[in-house]
Amino acid sequence: MPAYTIEGYVIVSANGMLADASHVMPEDLKFEADKRFFSSALDRADLIVHGRNSGEDHPNSAKRKRLILTRSVPSLARDPSNRNAALWNPQGASFEEACGFAAVPSGSVAIIGGPGVFAMFLDRYDTFWLSQARRVRLPGGEGCFPGVPERTPEQILSQHGLKSGKPRVLDAAEDVIVTPWRRA
Ligand SMILES: NC(=O)c1ccc[n+]([C@@H]2O[C@H](COP(=O)([O-])OP(=O)(O)OC[C@H]3O[C@@H](n4cnc5c(N)ncnc54)[C@H](OP(=O)(O)O)[C@@H]3O)[C@@H](O)[C@H]2O)c1
Repeated sequence: MPAYTIEGYVIVSANGMLADASHVMPEDLKFEADKRFFSSALDRADLIVHGRNSGEDHPNSAKRKRLILTRSVPSLARDPSNRNAALWNPQGASFEEACGFAAVPSGSVAIIGGPGVFAMFLDRYDTFWLSQARRVRLPGGEGCFPGVPERTPEQILSQHGLKSGKPRVLDAAEDVIVTPWRRA
């Protein structure tokens, strides 16, 4: 049995963007039902992994163990500003070494972005939870994976061996759904 269950979480616009043209996640992509879904998933995770600009900023964030990717350290270091966080440069330490450093020898890991970090785990996700706000368009925005919008997020997930499950409606009025993409 693998030591870690790895799940990804993102919300994207109809054209697969996780942020707008200025690399900021706009209010248009923020929905209470998706925030509840995301926050309760993170409360269940043993470890959260994200790039330096993709922290989730929830009321429970300080309690959650996390790895923050940055090139400002050679391999692994304590985060001086958060005792529950470690700084990780994958050039200097493997994912397993980073999890060990964070004192999480096994368990569930939530990957929450940004695009380069999502891409690092494309061959390792057990499930990728793709939330889609199907009425929101972010022209010229930042795709959820490198290669979006030339390819759709669905095409990329499928090319990495994931298969879509049944979508769940998160917000019917705003047409927001979440679809689990599971390893076949
Ligand atoms: N809609 C959503 O669900 C969602 C999800 C996630 C993010 N977002 C948004 O998307 C935007 C994405 O931000 P971003 O493109 O700046 O991505 P990001 O991955 O959060 O941050 C990039 C920074 O993370 C570090 N990093 C990333 N990959 C690394 C690697 N392989 N090795 C070492 N360090 C690495 C680097 O930090 P250093 O500069 O310190 O080296 C890099 O400058 C933000 O506005 C965020 O709010 C939206």
